[in-house]
Amino acid sequence: MQLSCSSLSVHYGKRKALNQLTLSLQPGEVRALIGPNGSGKSTALQALAGLAKPSEGYSAIDGVPVSSLSRRQLAKRLAFLPQQPTAPDEMTVEQLVRQGRFAHVGLLRSYGRQDEAAIEWALECTGLTSHAQRSLRELSGGERQRAWISAAVAQEARILLLDEPTSFLDIGYQIEVLDLVHHLSRERGVTVIMAIHDLNQAMSVSDRISLLAKGEHLFDGKPADLAKSGLIEDVFRVKGRFVDIAPDAPPHFDVELARRTALRA
Ligand SMILES: Nc1ncnc2c1ncn2[C@@H]1O[C@H](COP(=O)(O)OP(=O)(O)OP(=O)(O)O)[C@@H](O)[C@H]1O
Ligand SMILES: [Mg+2]
Repeated sequence: MQLSCSSLSVHYGKRKALNQLTLSLQPGEVRALIGPNGSGKSTALQALAGLAKPSEGYSAIDGVPVSSLSRRQLAKRLAFLPQQPTAPDEMTVEQLVRQGRFAHVGLLRSYGRQDEAAIEWALECTGLTSHAQRSLRELSGGERQRAWISAAVAQEARILLLDEPTSFLDIGYQIEVLDLVHHLSRERGVTVIMAIHDLNQAMSVSDRISLLAKGEHLFDGKPADLAKSGLIEDVFRVKGRFVDIAPDAPPHFDVELARRTALRA
């Protein structure tokens, strides 16, 4: 499925958080959304998912505006994991993941074999099978984050929007989640857009990168071209350089830590 948006702008009161974002994601593409804190990444994802009302423009799935789809129609096509999702503390992991199936199970809430299989797989690929009966309150921050990823995966939508899915995870689970994203895109044709702060992870996992700064879409292109653009040092106010680490891999950004400390002093 193709996700796109055209001239999408979002205001909070008088302040413009997103200015005329135009994007087109090809089916099965992984897109990383990067940018400093407050640059509009979460706002862009919410607007793409139809959750933030745009002051201008629209987002669409296969050309159909998301605002014209019912909640159930939208949930069958698109899964969105917000930056700070909330659920009742006493809910168990399995109950949360089960909720991810709501668009599939109908009003009678009867779960069929396919639903059970999707739930089982979602728990397994996020390493939560043994935690299924634990309540969310009893989980660590990273485990809770994986439970939410699991719920989004169980939804089996063809478009996945993830807002910093790796932020609370240890390095092992960060890589697992990125591998899962890669698998979903390559094996199942899922289109993914995710906000992510780790530049090198963004470069290695994505087909294309979008860079936002102060609500402006400054770059849309391949990771290797971002490296050539010279934008990273300016936008993030750091010193560093891109180095080639392997012939087929995107360049790796080596930040100069001393310079960073000096900037912050
Ligand atoms: N609900 C809101 N009401 C008012 N202003 C908001 C609201 N949400 C975000 N903003 C403002 O909009 C701008 C963009 O915020 P957004 O959350 O989209 O940034 P972000 O790129 O996701 O940042 P981060 O990396 O910190 O998650 C910021 O200036 C922020 O202060
Ligand atoms: Mg954010």
